[in-house]
Amino acid sequence: MAIVIVNNQPVDIGNERLNLIQAALRGGVFIPHYCWHPALTVVASCRMCLVEVGEKKPDGTVAMQPKVVPACQTPAKDGTVIVTTRRAPAPPRPVPSKASSSTTRSTAPSATRPASASCRTTPTATATPRRA
Ligand code: FES
Repeated sequence: MAIVIVNNQPVDIGNERLNLIQAALRGGVFIPHYCWHPALTVVASCRMCLVEVGEKKPDGTVAMQPKVVPACQTPAKDGTVIVTTRRAPAPPRPVPSKASSSTTRSTAPSATRPASASCRTTPTATATPRRA
């Protein structure tokens, strides 16, 4: 009898060979997936089913893996810990724009360009005619 922990809830998966999608579904947790189907071979290419996985040690501690894994490709075994509820970290705050700063404006390439410089509309080199 194998017990898998799905979002802090123990789920008995018996002696069946299940992947993490199937094991989580036994506990009522649906892991979104796209490229996996139970009747097909596992390709694990869409990465839609990525979950956090760890292992519950005999002393009760949980050691989580440092990266997410595809649930369709990872077999469930006794003591496997699956976390699907953790939210992604907040996106970084936007950096304030320095466009209004006078220091930035004076060092910008367009500010140092002489007033006489402009885009050339005529070619600088003419093509030489081909000699026969
Ligand atoms: S369902 Fe596509 S990688 Fe798992």
